[in-house]
Amino acid sequence: MTILITGVAGFIGSNLAETLLLEGHQIIGIDNFDPFYNKQIKLNNLSSFIHHPLFTFIEGDICDAELYTNTKLLNIQCIVHLAAKAGVRPSIDVPEKYFTANANGTILLLEFAKHNNIKKFVFASSSSVYGKNSNSPWQEDSTELMPISPYAASKIAAETIGKVYAHLYNINFIALRFFTVYGPRQRPDLAIHKFFKQIYNEEIIELYGKGDTYRDYTFIDDILKGLNAAIFSTTISDGFNTFNLGNCYQVSLANLVQHIEKITGIKAKLNYLNEQPGDVKATCADINKSKNILNYNPQTSITDGLMAFNTWFKKTNNL
Ligand SMILES: NC(=O)c1ccc[n+]([C@@H]2O[C@H](COP(=O)([O-])OP(=O)(O)OC[C@H]3O[C@@H](n4cnc5c(N)ncnc54)[C@H](O)[C@@H]3O)[C@@H](O)[C@H]2O)c1
Repeated sequence: MTILITGVAGFIGSNLAETLLLEGHQIIGIDNFDPFYNKQIKLNNLSSFIHHPLFTFIEGDICDAELYTNTKLLNIQCIVHLAAKAGVRPSIDVPEKYFTANANGTILLLEFAKHNNIKKFVFASSSSVYGKNSNSPWQEDSTELMPISPYAASKIAAETIGKVYAHLYNINFIALRFFTVYGPRQRPDLAIHKFFKQIYNEEIIELYGKGDTYRDYTFIDDILKGLNAAIFSTTISDGFNTFNLGNCYQVSLANLVQHIEKITGIKAKLNYLNEQPGDVKATCADINKSKNILNYNPQTSITDGLMAFNTWFKKTNNL
Protein backbone atom coordinates (compact mmCIF):
# COMPACT_ATOMS: atom_id res chain seq x y z
CA MET A 1 0.00 0.00 0.00
CA THR A 2 1.20 3.58 -0.62
CA ILE A 3 0.50 5.72 2.42
CA LEU A 4 0.96 9.47 2.84
CA ILE A 5 1.94 10.46 6.39
CA THR A 6 1.83 14.14 7.31
CA GLY A 7 3.91 15.20 10.31
CA VAL A 8 6.29 12.32 9.56
CA ALA A 9 9.25 13.90 11.39
CA GLY A 10 7.34 14.18 14.65
CA PHE A 11 7.04 11.80 17.59
CA ILE A 12 4.12 9.66 16.40
CA GLY A 13 4.72 10.14 12.66
CA SER A 14 8.32 8.91 12.71
CA ASN A 15 7.43 5.86 14.82
CA LEU A 16 4.55 5.04 12.45
CA ALA A 17 6.64 5.46 9.29
CA GLU A 18 9.33 3.18 10.68
CA THR A 19 6.79 0.45 11.51
CA LEU A 20 5.00 0.63 8.15
CA LEU A 21 8.30 0.56 6.23
CA LEU A 22 9.25 -2.61 8.12
CA GLU A 23 5.96 -4.11 6.96
CA GLY A 24 6.93 -3.34 3.34
CA HIS A 25 4.64 -0.38 2.60
CA GLN A 26 5.56 2.56 0.42
CA ILE A 27 5.60 5.73 2.54
CA ILE A 28 5.49 9.33 1.37
CA GLY A 29 6.16 11.63 4.31
CA ILE A 30 5.53 15.37 4.61
CA ASP A 31 6.82 17.68 7.32
CA ASN A 32 7.58 21.41 7.50
CA PHE A 33 9.79 21.19 10.63
CA ASP A 34 7.45 23.46 12.53
CA PRO A 35 9.58 25.42 15.05
CA PHE A 36 7.40 24.32 18.02
CA TYR A 37 10.43 22.29 19.03
CA ASN A 38 14.00 21.85 17.80
CA LYS A 39 14.44 20.80 14.16
CA GLN A 40 17.46 18.66 15.06
CA ILE A 41 15.22 16.39 17.17
CA LYS A 42 12.99 15.87 14.11
CA LEU A 43 15.99 15.19 11.86
CA ASN A 44 17.12 12.57 14.39
CA ASN A 45 13.63 11.05 14.30
CA LEU A 46 13.89 10.71 10.52
CA SER A 47 17.48 9.51 10.47
CA SER A 48 16.82 5.77 10.84
CA PHE A 49 14.64 5.55 7.68
CA ILE A 50 15.25 8.67 5.56
CA HIS A 51 17.30 6.61 3.05
CA HIS A 52 14.96 3.60 3.05
CA PRO A 53 14.17 2.68 -0.59
CA LEU A 54 10.42 2.66 0.12
CA PHE A 55 10.48 6.13 1.72
CA THR A 56 10.06 9.52 0.03
CA PHE A 57 10.36 12.72 2.05
CA ILE A 58 8.82 16.04 1.05
CA GLU A 59 9.66 19.09 3.14
CA GLY A 60 6.59 21.28 2.96
CA ASP A 61 3.67 22.92 4.71
CA ILE A 62 0.24 21.29 4.43
CA CYS A 63 -1.26 24.82 4.33
CA ASP A 64 0.67 25.68 1.17
CA ALA A 65 -1.46 24.92 -1.93
CA GLU A 66 1.74 24.56 -4.01
CA LEU A 67 2.67 21.46 -2.01
CA TYR A 68 -0.12 19.48 -3.63
CA THR A 69 1.38 19.94 -7.11
CA ASN A 70 4.49 17.97 -6.08
CA THR A 71 4.93 15.16 -8.58
CA LYS A 72 6.13 12.75 -5.86
CA LEU A 73 2.57 12.62 -4.49
CA LEU A 74 1.56 9.62 -6.58
CA ASN A 75 -0.62 6.49 -6.24
CA ILE A 76 -1.62 7.24 -2.64
CA GLN A 77 -4.26 4.90 -1.19
CA CYS A 78 -4.45 6.22 2.36
CA ILE A 79 -3.62 9.49 4.12
CA VAL A 80 -2.58 9.43 7.76
CA HIS A 81 -2.82 13.03 8.84
CA LEU A 82 -0.69 13.67 11.94
CA ALA A 83 0.73 17.11 11.13
CA ALA A 84 -0.54 19.72 13.54
CA LYS A 85 0.36 22.50 15.82
CA ALA A 86 0.34 20.45 19.01
CA GLY A 87 0.14 21.59 22.63
CA VAL A 88 -2.81 22.87 24.61
CA ARG A 89 -1.36 25.82 26.54
CA PRO A 90 0.50 27.52 23.63
CA SER A 91 -2.72 27.44 21.57
CA ILE A 92 -4.24 30.02 23.93
CA ASP A 93 -1.66 32.62 22.83
CA VAL A 94 -1.94 32.07 19.05
CA PRO A 95 -5.36 30.49 18.39
CA GLU A 96 -5.46 31.64 14.76
CA LYS A 97 -2.21 29.79 14.00
CA TYR A 98 -3.69 26.60 15.46
CA PHE A 99 -6.80 26.95 13.32
CA THR A 100 -4.76 27.65 10.19
CA ALA A 101 -2.57 24.56 10.61
CA ASN A 102 -5.05 22.16 12.20
CA ALA A 103 -8.37 23.07 10.57
CA ASN A 104 -7.49 24.77 7.25
CA GLY A 105 -4.56 22.39 6.73
CA THR A 106 -6.98 19.46 7.08
CA ILE A 107 -9.32 21.01 4.48
CA LEU A 108 -6.47 21.31 1.96
CA LEU A 109 -5.53 17.67 2.52
CA LEU A 110 -9.15 16.58 2.15
CA GLU A 111 -9.33 18.53 -1.12
CA PHE A 112 -6.20 16.69 -2.23
CA ALA A 113 -7.88 13.39 -1.28
CA LYS A 114 -11.01 14.37 -3.20
CA HIS A 115 -9.12 15.31 -6.39
CA ASN A 116 -6.99 12.18 -6.28
CA ASN A 117 -9.76 9.74 -5.41
CA ILE A 118 -8.10 8.75 -2.09
CA LYS A 119 -10.84 7.08 -0.09
CA LYS A 120 -9.18 6.50 3.27
CA PHE A 121 -8.23 9.34 5.61
CA VAL A 122 -6.98 8.62 9.14
CA PHE A 123 -6.87 11.73 11.31
CA ALA A 124 -5.00 12.34 14.60
CA SER A 125 -7.59 13.80 16.90
CA SER A 126 -7.24 14.21 20.62
CA SER A 127 -8.79 13.36 23.99
CA SER A 128 -8.86 17.13 24.56
CA VAL A 129 -12.04 17.33 22.46
CA TYR A 130 -13.98 16.00 25.49
CA GLY A 131 -12.58 18.87 27.57
CA LYS A 132 -14.32 19.59 30.84
CA ASN A 133 -16.96 16.91 30.47
CA SER A 134 -16.70 15.18 33.85
CA ASN A 135 -18.82 12.21 32.81
CA SER A 136 -15.91 9.82 32.38
CA PRO A 137 -14.84 7.38 30.97
CA TRP A 138 -15.52 9.28 27.76
CA GLN A 139 -17.37 7.50 24.98
CA GLU A 140 -16.94 8.48 21.35
CA ASP A 141 -20.59 8.67 20.37
CA SER A 142 -22.36 9.68 23.56
CA THR A 143 -20.06 12.03 25.49
CA GLU A 144 -20.70 15.70 24.83
CA LEU A 145 -17.64 17.55 23.50
CA MET A 146 -16.80 20.42 25.88
CA PRO A 147 -13.43 21.81 24.68
CA ILE A 148 -11.57 24.36 26.80
CA SER A 149 -8.64 25.28 24.54
CA PRO A 150 -8.22 26.56 20.96
CA TYR A 151 -6.17 23.40 20.27
CA ALA A 152 -9.12 21.19 21.22
CA ALA A 153 -11.50 23.37 19.22
CA SER A 154 -9.22 23.11 16.16
CA LYS A 155 -9.32 19.30 16.42
CA ILE A 156 -13.14 19.36 16.61
CA ALA A 157 -13.19 21.67 13.57
CA ALA A 158 -11.00 19.19 11.66
CA GLU A 159 -13.21 16.25 12.69
CA THR A 160 -16.30 18.18 11.60
CA ILE A 161 -14.97 19.01 8.15
CA GLY A 162 -13.91 15.36 7.87
CA LYS A 163 -17.52 14.36 8.53
CA VAL A 164 -18.64 16.67 5.72
CA TYR A 165 -16.14 15.21 3.22
CA ALA A 166 -17.11 11.69 4.27
CA HIS A 167 -20.70 12.56 3.37
CA LEU A 168 -20.06 14.52 0.18
CA TYR A 169 -17.24 12.51 -1.38
CA ASN A 170 -17.55 9.05 0.12
CA ILE A 171 -14.23 9.31 1.98
CA ASN A 172 -13.73 6.93 4.89
CA PHE A 173 -12.66 9.49 7.52
CA ILE A 174 -11.39 7.88 10.74
CA ALA A 175 -10.69 10.24 13.64
CA LEU A 176 -8.50 8.60 16.27
CA ARG A 177 -8.68 10.44 19.56
CA PHE A 178 -5.27 9.88 21.16
CA PHE A 179 -4.95 9.98 24.96
CA THR A 180 -1.58 11.43 26.15
CA VAL A 181 0.86 9.41 24.09
CA TYR A 182 4.34 8.70 25.47
CA GLY A 183 7.38 6.58 24.64
CA PRO A 184 10.65 6.90 22.70
CA ARG A 185 10.84 10.20 20.74
CA GLN A 186 8.06 11.78 22.78
CA ARG A 187 7.82 15.54 22.27
CA PRO A 188 10.07 17.45 24.67
CA ASP A 189 7.21 19.71 25.83
CA LEU A 190 5.18 16.83 27.28
CA ALA A 191 5.22 16.01 30.99
CA ILE A 192 6.96 12.62 30.96
CA HIS A 193 9.83 13.80 28.74
CA LYS A 194 10.17 17.06 30.68
CA PHE A 195 10.15 15.31 34.08
CA PHE A 196 12.83 12.76 33.11
CA LYS A 197 15.02 15.57 31.80
CA GLN A 198 14.53 17.67 34.94
CA ILE A 199 15.10 14.82 37.39
CA TYR A 200 18.37 13.76 35.69
CA ASN A 201 19.51 17.41 35.57
CA GLU A 202 18.57 17.78 39.26
CA GLU A 203 16.26 20.65 38.31
CA ILE A 204 13.00 21.57 39.99
CA ILE A 205 9.92 19.87 38.54
CA GLU A 206 6.95 22.20 38.38
CA LEU A 207 3.64 20.44 39.00
CA TYR A 208 0.48 22.22 37.99
CA GLY A 209 -2.58 21.78 40.18
CA LYS A 210 -1.01 20.14 43.29
CA GLY A 211 -0.33 16.91 41.39
CA ASP A 212 -4.00 15.91 41.55
CA THR A 213 -4.73 16.02 37.83
CA TYR A 214 -5.16 12.63 36.15
CA ARG A 215 -4.16 11.39 32.70
CA ASP A 216 -4.88 8.25 30.76
CA TYR A 217 -1.33 7.71 29.43
CA THR A 218 -0.97 5.56 26.31
CA PHE A 219 2.28 3.97 25.20
CA ILE A 220 3.37 4.59 21.59
CA ASP A 221 3.37 0.87 20.64
CA ASP A 222 -0.30 0.61 21.57
CA ILE A 223 -1.11 3.75 19.57
CA LEU A 224 0.76 2.27 16.58
CA LYS A 225 -1.39 -0.86 16.78
CA GLY A 226 -4.51 1.32 16.78
CA LEU A 227 -3.22 3.31 13.81
CA ASN A 228 -2.37 0.11 11.96
CA ALA A 229 -5.87 -1.21 12.53
CA ALA A 230 -7.43 2.04 11.32
CA ILE A 231 -5.32 1.95 8.14
CA PHE A 232 -5.87 -1.69 7.22
CA SER A 233 -9.04 -2.87 8.99
CA THR A 234 -11.96 -3.94 6.84
CA THR A 235 -14.43 -3.90 9.74
CA ILE A 236 -14.75 -0.11 9.99
CA SER A 237 -17.98 1.35 8.60
CA ASP A 238 -17.89 3.60 5.56
CA GLY A 239 -18.10 7.34 6.10
CA PHE A 240 -17.17 9.10 9.33
CA ASN A 241 -15.88 7.24 12.42
CA THR A 242 -14.31 8.21 15.74
CA PHE A 243 -12.30 5.94 18.02
CA ASN A 244 -10.64 6.53 21.39
CA LEU A 245 -7.08 5.28 21.59
CA GLY A 246 -6.42 5.37 25.31
CA ASN A 247 -5.41 2.95 27.97
CA CYS A 248 -8.50 3.10 30.15
CA TYR A 249 -6.29 3.62 33.24
CA GLN A 250 -5.70 6.91 35.05
CA VAL A 251 -2.46 8.03 36.71
CA SER A 252 -2.24 11.17 38.84
CA LEU A 253 0.55 13.64 38.20
CA ALA A 254 1.92 13.04 41.71
CA ASN A 255 1.92 9.29 41.12
CA LEU A 256 3.65 9.76 37.75
CA VAL A 257 6.50 11.56 39.52
CA GLN A 258 6.76 8.73 42.07
CA HIS A 259 7.09 6.20 39.23
CA ILE A 260 9.86 8.32 37.66
CA GLU A 261 11.68 8.63 41.01
CA LYS A 262 11.59 4.85 41.42
CA ILE A 263 12.85 4.16 37.89
CA THR A 264 15.66 6.74 37.97
CA GLY A 265 16.52 6.24 41.66
CA ILE A 266 16.54 10.02 42.08
CA LYS A 267 14.36 12.03 44.48
CA ALA A 268 12.49 14.80 42.64
CA LYS A 269 12.57 18.44 43.75
CA LEU A 270 9.00 19.66 43.38
CA ASN A 271 7.36 23.06 43.10
CA TYR A 272 3.57 23.18 43.02
CA LEU A 273 1.91 25.78 40.79
CA ASN A 274 -1.67 26.76 39.98
CA GLU A 275 -3.63 24.78 37.42
CA GLN A 276 -3.12 26.12 33.90
CA PRO A 277 -5.92 27.51 31.76
CA GLY A 278 -6.79 25.07 28.98
CA ASP A 279 -5.67 22.00 30.95
CA VAL A 280 -8.41 19.50 31.74
CA LYS A 281 -8.59 17.99 35.21
CA ALA A 282 -8.73 14.33 34.22
CA THR A 283 -8.85 12.19 31.08
CA CYS A 284 -10.12 8.65 30.79
CA ALA A 285 -11.02 6.71 27.65
CA ASP A 286 -13.79 4.23 27.19
CA ILE A 287 -12.11 1.88 24.71
CA ASN A 288 -14.91 -0.65 24.17
CA LYS A 289 -15.71 0.63 20.67
CA SER A 290 -12.02 0.49 19.66
CA LYS A 291 -11.73 -2.99 21.17
CA ASN A 292 -14.78 -4.26 19.30
CA ILE A 293 -14.14 -2.71 15.90
CA LEU A 294 -10.37 -2.15 15.70
CA ASN A 295 -9.43 -5.11 17.87
CA TYR A 296 -7.47 -2.52 19.85
CA ASN A 297 -6.11 -3.92 23.08
CA PRO A 298 -3.45 -1.78 24.82
CA GLN A 299 -0.89 -3.95 26.56
CA THR A 300 1.72 -1.65 28.07
CA SER A 301 1.52 -0.86 31.78
CA ILE A 302 2.65 2.58 32.92
CA THR A 303 5.67 1.00 34.67
CA ASP A 304 6.82 -0.89 31.56
CA GLY A 305 6.18 2.13 29.34
CA LEU A 306 8.14 4.49 31.60
CA MET A 307 11.02 2.00 31.80
CA ALA A 308 11.13 1.86 27.99
CA PHE A 309 11.10 5.66 27.85
CA ASN A 310 13.92 5.79 30.42
CA THR A 311 16.07 3.40 28.36
CA TRP A 312 15.54 5.50 25.23
CA PHE A 313 16.12 8.78 27.09
CA LYS A 314 19.41 7.61 28.65
CA LYS A 315 20.71 6.29 25.32
CA THR A 316 19.74 9.48 23.46
CA ASN A 317 21.37 11.71 26.08
CA ASN A 318 24.45 9.51 26.70
CA LEU A 319 23.56 9.03 30.39
N1 LIG B 1 1.44 13.20 21.54
C1 LIG B 1 0.24 13.18 22.09
O1 LIG B 1 0.09 12.88 23.28
C2 LIG B 1 -0.98 13.51 21.28
C3 LIG B 1 -2.24 13.44 21.90
C4 LIG B 1 -3.36 13.74 21.15
C5 LIG B 1 -3.25 14.07 19.81
N2 LIG B 1 -2.02 14.16 19.23
C6 LIG B 1 -1.94 14.53 17.82
O2 LIG B 1 -1.13 13.59 17.14
C7 LIG B 1 -0.41 14.23 16.10
C8 LIG B 1 1.09 13.95 16.24
O3 LIG B 1 1.50 14.43 17.50
P1 LIG B 1 3.02 14.36 17.98
O4 LIG B 1 3.00 14.29 19.46
O5 LIG B 1 3.75 13.37 17.17
O6 LIG B 1 3.48 15.85 17.60
P2 LIG B 1 4.82 16.35 16.89
O7 LIG B 1 4.83 17.84 17.06
O8 LIG B 1 6.00 15.58 17.38
O9 LIG B 1 4.56 15.98 15.36
C9 LIG B 1 3.81 16.78 14.50
C10 LIG B 1 4.65 17.05 13.26
O10 LIG B 1 3.87 17.84 12.35
C11 LIG B 1 4.72 18.80 11.75
N3 LIG B 1 3.89 19.90 11.30
C12 LIG B 1 3.26 20.83 12.07
N4 LIG B 1 2.60 21.71 11.31
C13 LIG B 1 2.81 21.33 10.02
C14 LIG B 1 2.41 21.85 8.75
N5 LIG B 1 1.66 22.95 8.68
N6 LIG B 1 2.81 21.22 7.62
C15 LIG B 1 3.59 20.09 7.69
N7 LIG B 1 4.01 19.56 8.86
C16 LIG B 1 3.62 20.18 10.01
C17 LIG B 1 5.72 19.19 12.81
O11 LIG B 1 6.91 19.71 12.28
C18 LIG B 1 5.91 17.86 13.55
O12 LIG B 1 7.06 17.18 13.07
C19 LIG B 1 -0.78 15.70 16.18
O13 LIG B 1 -1.83 15.94 15.27
C20 LIG B 1 -1.27 15.88 17.60
O14 LIG B 1 -2.18 16.93 17.71
C21 LIG B 1 -0.88 13.87 19.93
